[in-house]
Amino acid sequence: MSASERALELRTEIERHNHQYYVLDAPLIADADYDRLFRELQALEAEHPELLTVDSPTQRVGGKALETFLPVRHALPMLSIRTETDIEASGSFAFDARVRRELKLGEGDPAVEYAAELKFDGLAINLRYEDGVLVRAATRGDGETGEDVTANVRTVGQIPLRLHTSEAPRVLEVRGEIYMKRRDFERFNARAQAAGEKTLVNPRNGAAGGIRQLDPRIAASRLLSFFAYGLGDVQGWSLPETHSAVLDALDALGLPVCAERAIRRGPAELAEFHRSVGERRGNLPFDIDGVVYKVNSLALQARLGFVSREPRWAVAHKYAAEEASTEVLGIDIQVGRTGALTPVARLAPVFVGGVTVTNATLHNEDEVRRKDVHVGDTVIVRRAGDVGVTLHVSVSNRISQIMAMSSDDNGSMFNGGTLP
Ligand code: IVH
Repeated sequence: MSASERALELRTEIERHNHQYYVLDAPLIADADYDRLFRELQALEAEHPELLTVDSPTQRVGGKALETFLPVRHALPMLSIRTETDIEASGSFAFDARVRRELKLGEGDPAVEYAAELKFDGLAINLRYEDGVLVRAATRGDGETGEDVTANVRTVGQIPLRLHTSEAPRVLEVRGEIYMKRRDFERFNARAQAAGEKTLVNPRNGAAGGIRQLDPRIAASRLLSFFAYGLGDVQGWSLPETHSAVLDALDALGLPVCAERAIRRGPAELAEFHRSVGERRGNLPFDIDGVVYKVNSLALQARLGFVSREPRWAVAHKYAAEEASTEVLGIDIQVGRTGALTPVARLAPVFVGGVTVTNATLHNEDEVRRKDVHVGDTVIVRRAGDVGVTLHVSVSNRISQIMAMSSDDNGSMFNGGTLP
């Protein structure tokens, strides 16, 4: 086998293992075996620099920091979605009624088919693939012009540098959300805290801030993830008939598509999707702030069109916020059974993630000093992954975190610890 054939084989093999590991969460080989393949490719490319390609997995993390992000004009504007803030089932009915009215459907006409998805809480990104190779990644910016964040996006292991197909479209722009899994957010903060460095307020800021780092090595350290949810410019690819089939096609091309999606008919089924996802929301591996409904037929989408940069065929149906800001009313010292002293921040009661939070443990004096919490501070109370078990509180003006205890509406404590 020639060096060039071996290089191609290694690139394909390594990217396949990346997909297994980062997207499917199901590695097929041991880390040491992966490292061996990777080092063999690095050695081969060092020996034969002419074999180096932009889509080589060895090129994910670039060596140099950028000076600035260059502007990128989007081939097709990046739109936003109308938000339905009515968090009750009526939100679904209002959207369906609008769609039916616009489509001039009567009572006797069948139910409209929708693609129902999660609304990921991160940063919108446009990935441009030309002849199957990732050539540019851009933020949304003002919708017309975004920023070139290719170097950072290449560090996201879940994003294929080359589409998994031998018949790649001339141009395929994939739109989706860069986000941070809760597990990666917790790990990042645990490490930052141990190193005495700044912690992240929430996964969304972690993702958005990570992508806007000039040094791709910092972006890489954030452990970012991606979900595809739509298309931009497309050339030389025959579009399927429905949005859900587009997502299936993107999935087959090696792009991460969230499995938590469904086809629903009519408003009652949408409301049921909203309710059932809402129930599981706290147990998802990432934050969502709502669900999204899209008219599934691309032909009907085209008929519905847009109003002021928002498609008439999509809506985001929200949930109650998992974060809220409140004020530190006082700091009490509690005496435990063993005599241990624990400072506790008394908070102005705030309803967040389904519970009323009235106080937050500050653990010990060092922690109080480190967080620099003062009476009168505005803090962000954040519900963590498991519903109602722990909360993160961050001092909004200083962006640090403390663990919180919460009391529910009946005033009972459930932070898992014991109180005097
Ligand atoms: S579709 C034309 N689908 O929500 C519709 N957006 O304003 C374009 N988002 O920042 C967006 N999850 O990045 C779509 N499943 C999803 C989404 C989603 C999150 C974000 C998007 C944008 C905002 C919409």
